[in-house]
Amino acid sequence: MAAESLPDPSTDLDDDILLDQEPPALTEKQDFTGDLRGALPKLGLRNYWYPVILERRVGKTRPVRVSMIGEDLCLFRKENGEVVALGDVCPHRGARLSEGDCHWAGTVACPYHGWVFNAEGKNLAVLGEGPDSNVAGKAGTSARVYPVQTLKGVVFAWIGDEAPAPIEEDVPEEFFDPDTVIYANDLIHWKTNWEVAIENSMDAHVNYLHRDHLQTMLASPTFMPRGAAGARVAFTGNGFTSAVPPKPQPEQDEHTDAGIQWPKRTIRKRWAWIFRPFFASTHVPAPMPQSDWWGTGHRLPGMFRAGIAQTRDPEGRPIRPRTGGLFGFYTRWPVAVGDWFTRVWYFQNTKPKSTFERAKNWLLYWMLYRWLVQYNFSQQDMSVMENIDFEAPERLSGTDSEIVFWRRLVVTKHRGGRNAEYTHHGKTVDIKRPESQRA
Ligand code: FES
Ligand SMILES: [Fe+2]
Repeated sequence: MAAESLPDPSTDLDDDILLDQEPPALTEKQDFTGDLRGALPKLGLRNYWYPVILERRVGKTRPVRVSMIGEDLCLFRKENGEVVALGDVCPHRGARLSEGDCHWAGTVACPYHGWVFNAEGKNLAVLGEGPDSNVAGKAGTSARVYPVQTLKGVVFAWIGDEAPAPIEEDVPEEFFDPDTVIYANDLIHWKTNWEVAIENSMDAHVNYLHRDHLQTMLASPTFMPRGAAGARVAFTGNGFTSAVPPKPQPEQDEHTDAGIQWPKRTIRKRWAWIFRPFFASTHVPAPMPQSDWWGTGHRLPGMFRAGIAQTRDPEGRPIRPRTGGLFGFYTRWPVAVGDWFTRVWYFQNTKPKSTFERAKNWLLYWMLYRWLVQYNFSQQDMSVMENIDFEAPERLSGTDSEIVFWRRLVVTKHRGGRNAEYTHHGKTVDIKRPESQRA
């Protein structure tokens, strides 16, 4: 699809304004302003690479079905063990290949009349009709094939109608780094839309919604530091970074006009000193991103990335996150399964320098941080996202500015294709597309 040049009227967003949103004005003029929610793709952007499943879930004898981005995939293994994906619809009469069997390595047989397909989607034989079948191997009897690549135990597929783009543009750089260890989780599903899920990390909810996250309760003397307020959004070519400028924060906020203090009590000070050293000592620093394309922030086709890289400042003094510690570099990638059902992938990557460190990280991930980050913390997000009314009128705050930019970016790509030009009137980093690793 040809890239369209779309108007992008700049909105200079200050912390203290309310953003008025007009109803969508999207039809003739392609005026990408106002409330764009109605123009977002409900099942995600097409023509991108997406994570499908952990490779270890695909066995040798039975295929596996995965639904995502409005498509159904049937995954099985080639003779050499690589995972491959066909469309999960038999070209004969639409039965689900994933309900069939892999009688022979590198094939899947449809459960209905036994059409047998290989990894290239070719119909090799029709078991129900026998060797005399006059459709076996005939043109037009092939199943759809999805381009697939397995990286660090995660199967990625190209979901779209165009020829696949270089996978390095859509899959984070650490998947191509031999020294990085990635912990991936494909089990978490939220009953919400993918866009609601991705917008969750673009605003100022963290220190309020997550105030009773276990680690905050135990190890943060007050609540977590405020985020997003006043953050300036910079365009990276495939998304946005939004560095949170550090702001001194009192133990309690005085809302003088309202006559209230928040937090109401500072009781956590009494025990935070006991638990903070534990979390600080278990902090696993995040490997530094190697490019702006894959730095922190939000990236297409829809992921959030964050990490606390350093444990020491330039003078060598230890830097302790206010709650004590975190685990590696964090990526949360919501992938649409249905209109209001989303698989929320979590990747946490580390770069251990020794076998001992590798073993220690493994233990910390499985004993503590997987639960703490992906369940205890994130399910606080989930509980709100699942019941959100995404059609109700919004009155956005200045701290929601990234949401406005993000929606405009998604609608631009949805309408104009992945190479559609997006012009950002704010800050832009030096945009460099990742180079393909393939020879
Ligand atoms: S529907 Fe698949 S073999 Fe008939
Ligand atoms: Fe959150």
